[in-house]
Amino acid sequence: MTVTTGEALRGYNTLALRARAQAFANVHSEQELLAALACARTLGLPVMPMGEGSNIVLAGDIQALVVRQSTRGIEVLERDVDCVRLRVAAGESWHDLVRWTLQQGYYGLENLALIPGTAGAAPIQNIGAYGVELASSVQQVHALRIADDQRVVLSHQECEFGYRDSVFKHRLRDKVVITSIDLRLSLLPAVTVDYPALAQYFAQHAISEVTPEAVFDAVVSIRRSKLPDPSVIPNAGSFFKNPVVGQAEAERLRVAHPDLPNYPQPDGRVKLSAAWMIDQCGWKGVRRDGLGVHAQHALVLVNYGSDSGEQLMVLANEIAASVDTTFGVRLEIEPRVYGTGR
Ligand code: EPU
Repeated sequence: MTVTTGEALRGYNTLALRARAQAFANVHSEQELLAALACARTLGLPVMPMGEGSNIVLAGDIQALVVRQSTRGIEVLERDVDCVRLRVAAGESWHDLVRWTLQQGYYGLENLALIPGTAGAAPIQNIGAYGVELASSVQQVHALRIADDQRVVLSHQECEFGYRDSVFKHRLRDKVVITSIDLRLSLLPAVTVDYPALAQYFAQHAISEVTPEAVFDAVVSIRRSKLPDPSVIPNAGSFFKNPVVGQAEAERLRVAHPDLPNYPQPDGRVKLSAAWMIDQCGWKGVRRDGLGVHAQHALVLVNYGSDSGEQLMVLANEIAASVDTTFGVRLEIEPRVYGTGR
């Protein structure tokens, strides 16, 4: 493992934004990770772990040792009558993992097909799509504590998973590097197909026998139809979270904007569609200085040829301000923003 200085990060983030890392290491094993942590201590630099860079915004140069996780490996820990436990190295590609599990007859991840990024990054935002969240499959998360190299194991409960949320965005933010995740998958081909777009797909294609493989194919097809492939048009997926509001606020919005899609949550609060609000404000398809809002999905900011994270943040803040003015709702940026005086 070599530590380089001034490494260009444009090829390491799916938004293709320009930034340099004060120090950079690509690690392929736990030993290399430990060496990188030791190096950061020697240099007096904070550590910024990254996977495929699919959920980050580089708004400026990074005053840290950027550690790209390239560890690989999937281990079957235990196989029972109806389930299997796997340990997946942080650097494994998420979509490749989903495809592999399906080939083995291990079910539960098919709704999460085609999500860019690595397995190790997945718990941080508790990736979720088409009615399923990663949380439903995670048993444990393994990590190294940056301060003292201690191995830590977090139980499912200790991960404090929520909608696009986990302990890694709060108490453990910048404190640990995730090294592997343990998943519990089913050997029984049960499927989750309640999500409206998914149910609609099966009805339209007259598919009556819905297998996990059919769910995988449907999710891949739906995603390809409305979400841009980051290798073609650089993006970081949904740029804002869907806001979750209390009942009184939800009622105010129901009266003022009866068409605003809303999804009651188990705790009584209500999730609102950020894409719909951004769309209503007229942003969908807008292009400006090489940046823009995707023409098929208003929640996705895209880079058509700019390289400025700073400009992207200007656009994002303008979008959020217009939603606030029109709907009185504050949008929260979903990807982690780095390089702003960090
Ligand atoms: N909509 C619009 N205009 C648009 C796009 C969507 O009005 O341009 C409306 C749709 O008609 C629908 C509603 O917004 O009524 C929801 O749209 P969609 O089903 O596409 O889901 P989303 O809430 O916008 C979330 C996730 C996606 C995930 C999909 C499917 C967040 C922040 N985003 O999007 O996740 O793929 O559901 O489950 O929760 C990501 O996180 O990067 C991501 C792509």
